[in-house]
Amino acid sequence: MHSLLSLLILATASLAASQASTSEVSCPTLPTTINYASNPKLPDPFLTLNGTRVTSKAQWPCRREEIKQLLQRYALGTMPPKPTTSATLSSNTLKITASDGGKSVSFSVSIKLPTSGSTPYPAIIAFGSASIPIPNTVAVITYQNFDIGADNGRGKGRFYDLYGSSHNAGAMITWAWGVSRIIDALELTPDAKIDPKRVGVTGCSRNGKGAMVAGAFEDRIAIAIPQEGGQGSAGCWRIADEIQKNGTKVETAHQIVNGDTWFSTDFPKYVDAVPTLPWDNHLMHALFADPPRGVLIVENTAIDYLGPTSNYHCASAGRTVFKAFGRQENMGLSQVSHSDHCGFLRESQADLTAFIERFLLGKDTKTDIWKTDGKFVVDETRWIDWAVPTLL
Ligand SMILES: *[C@@H]1O[C@H](CO)[C@@H](O)[C@H](O)[C@H]1NC(C)=O
Ligand SMILES: *[C@@H]1O[C@H](CO)[C@@H](O)[C@H](O)[C@H]1NC(C)=O
Repeated sequence: MHSLLSLLILATASLAASQASTSEVSCPTLPTTINYASNPKLPDPFLTLNGTRVTSKAQWPCRREEIKQLLQRYALGTMPPKPTTSATLSSNTLKITASDGGKSVSFSVSIKLPTSGSTPYPAIIAFGSASIPIPNTVAVITYQNFDIGADNGRGKGRFYDLYGSSHNAGAMITWAWGVSRIIDALELTPDAKIDPKRVGVTGCSRNGKGAMVAGAFEDRIAIAIPQEGGQGSAGCWRIADEIQKNGTKVETAHQIVNGDTWFSTDFPKYVDAVPTLPWDNHLMHALFADPPRGVLIVENTAIDYLGPTSNYHCASAGRTVFKAFGRQENMGLSQVSHSDHCGFLRESQADLTAFIERFLLGKDTKTDIWKTDGKFVVDETRWIDWAVPTLL
């Protein structure tokens, strides 16, 4: 009995909720009322709401915090402060418990260790199951994100058990919250043999959107590989609206709030006036630029509903922030045509390998990858009308 117990409880520890993340900065809070003049172009990533233009690296942390606040307030819902996390490893199952306000919830992930390489291993957290090929040098952590925030019906899942079913969080912010708890748990559990500093995240379709959001909001994620997330991931709401107006059916902000639980309960208030939003999704891409992390967007030009034009232009706009930091190789695009949604094409393999090598395997592989077979030409006057500064 005793030995069984010690076998089950290979590792348990807990982390105080007060232990704040190291990247926290003290910045002005977002004003209660934001008057943003209707702007059909994508908002300038370097222009702060207070009118100050970011010209130095030192100004970026507060603009970045502003972007995170905007995304939460308008679209995603509120990320709660860090709860207390504990973890228990039993064979390949990591059970994670998060506690806050006298309540606790638990969920488990399964870990498949790689067959080569040495411990601690890098890992990729797969939303649902991975639909990209993960090499045998990288562990796979399978994360049932719908258990945290249900995909069918609002306010259901572990997140809402802890914070209340009327919390304004959309499912994607709850999934991101769960990813953060997985990394807390890996930090607490060396016996899991995973290096918490080399963890990536991936998912496809709705889970591609989720992987983008989780990577954007959790700085401990070394790389996000969102696959075919389309609008709300690679794509921008403004561009999607124009595609729709031009007569091609695409996922728009207006349409996405009908039925799907992914966005906050507040987002429906804004979806009919997209040009008045003081943000668009290129600003979410910018969250990977500094502190420097990787993001490889895997998209598909063959499926109109994914909004290939929007994905290309929006991501190109997001990449201007990486350019400003002299780090454009940290953001990649591999956009190729194939009819099967969430299939992975040979044409993207070298791009994926390069990003995994650089951001998870510590190799010096070149990742200056910006590939599309969509023949898009960026119209500087239409979407991206800002000059890209060199941040000093
Ligand atoms: C305006 O925003 C920038 C960047 O977030 C910040 O550095 C600056 O302190 C702000 N200025 C005022 C007056 O709040
Ligand atoms: C919409 O159609 C106009 C006119 O043909 C074109 O210039 C524009 O690029 C199209 N927009 C998108 C997002 O495809």
